[in-house]
Amino acid sequence: MVSVPAGITSTERRAVTEAAVHAGAKGAYVVKEPILAAIGAGLPINSASGNMIVNIGGGTSEVAVIALGGIVSWASVRVAGNKIDHAITDYIKKKHNLAIGERTAEYIKVTIGSAVSEKGKEDSMEIRGRDLLNGLPRTIVIKSSEITDAIAETLREIIQAVKAVLRETPPELAADIIERGMTISGGTALLRNLDQLITSSTGVQAIVAEEPLLCVAKGTGVALENLDVYKKSIITRK
Ligand SMILES: Nc1ncnc2c1ncn2[C@@H]1O[C@H](COP(=O)(O)OP(=O)(O)OP(=O)(O)O)[C@@H](O)[C@H]1O
Ligand SMILES: [Mg+2]
Repeated sequence: MVSVPAGITSTERRAVTEAAVHAGAKGAYVVKEPILAAIGAGLPINSASGNMIVNIGGGTSEVAVIALGGIVSWASVRVAGNKIDHAITDYIKKKHNLAIGERTAEYIKVTIGSAVSEKGKEDSMEIRGRDLLNGLPRTIVIKSSEITDAIAETLREIIQAVKAVLRETPPELAADIIERGMTISGGTALLRNLDQLITSSTGVQAIVAEEPLLCVAKGTGVALENLDVYKKSIITRK
């Protein structure tokens, strides 16, 4: 079973199944990633009511409303964890004249990054990089509120995608979502207070899935073991 982006074309889909069969698989099933993320997050995707999943990974954020095993409305943007890291790198370069590597940027994000500033709970950390003026190594102290500001615009782009999907969702399904909230998965769902920011900017409660990093992988396993239950969600089988 292979998970593919929701926007995949039929040609790409065939290429995926063919690649799997060429690699030696006896059979191959293709399922859209938001569906697998939703299954892995424990959402009842086959029910008639609307289930909303926001899967925010490294390269892409995919937002989908799922009912009766199929995607009703969706959006995908190439803005996720990596772009957040880049925003941190850019900020430190511009504000502190310090060059840092990709791994440092990600480490800062995971350690003190927060989508919303918490009053009275300011964290800070020491980071090392290369001074852009004299080329020498330098250490600075960075505060979590600086990181919150640095990543705000990138997070806004993700939230625009969430809003676009909410606007496109048929009213009855939107009512279900307002009642039960949306689930966020993917590694970036672990960014501190991201659920809070999405909730306050959309008016719909965002709930972080259990083990968000593993939702797609778990969903893939569950779907493969229950092919009959999820047959409506399989877009190609070979
Ligand atoms: N605790 C954390 N706080 C913030 N971000 C985190 C945390 N843990 C992991 N991440 C981020 O999650 C991202 C990886 O998530 P995930 O494994 O879901 O992505 P992916 O499936 O590889 O990417 P994509 O779905 O875009 O193809 C990375 O950008 C990583 O920095
Ligand atoms: Mg992913």
